[in-house]
Amino acid sequence: MRVLVGLICLGLFVLPALAADKIAERVAKMDISEEQLFAIGETLFNTEGANTCLKCHGAGGHGGDQVGAADLRHPRTWRSYQALGGDEVFNADKDAFLANMATIIHVLIRAGAPTWNLRFAKSHKDIEMDWSKVTIPDKVDKYNSMMKGITSGPMKKALKAMAKQFQADSGIKLKSKEQKDVAAVATYLYVRSFDDGSDKAGVFK
Ligand code: HEC
Repeated sequence: MRVLVGLICLGLFVLPALAADKIAERVAKMDISEEQLFAIGETLFNTEGANTCLKCHGAGGHGGDQVGAADLRHPRTWRSYQALGGDEVFNADKDAFLANMATIIHVLIRAGAPTWNLRFAKSHKDIEMDWSKVTIPDKVDKYNSMMKGITSGPMKKALKAMAKQFQADSGIKLKSKEQKDVAAVATYLYVRSFDDGSDKAGVFK
């Protein structure tokens, strides 16, 4: 009985932690260096074709074709940054804030906005998002469904090519789920390098 109560108590502590950034946790276990991840992110982001990161957001994260696509040089303008409470909450505890932001964006890139909108809040109750703080006019209480992340046909093809190259380089065969995890973490790592240090950015640098 005592063991059972102990396990339940432990569960209460461990569960919120598990609800955190599962995608990043899985990738951390894969033993891929940050340099490798960055290179993978760079290649995937710059994949050409319709409905790719590059097409919608543009080279360097701005000037792409998609109306309403976030300017990736300016993270303070992003929906996640604002909904998490913006500057005030960021300045109070930068590490916790950035961890929540990464959790949100990894799922967004991996699953795309339509699935994120349906599921994220339910499975991440520990992350407080206040959509009333978001100043982006369209669809203020959810992500714009055009944010497809890696879910389009050309991005899926790019993921397969990445996995083939990774296997040739490292001898490790990534399963389809693992490819998606790696792609989400790698592209977000690459995107953070676009931060231009201006008043609208200054989050990652
Ligand atoms: C079909 C167009 C499209 C594609 C493909 C796309 N995006 Fe986006 N992205 C958007 C739009 C539109 C937004 C703005 C979403 C919003 O404000 O609701 C966005 C927002 C973002 C954001 C900001 C998230 C936030 O919290 O506001 C990041 C980061 C991002 N995209 C990265 C990527 C990456 C990396 C890829 C490729 C793996 C990608 N996007 C693919 C259209 C796209």
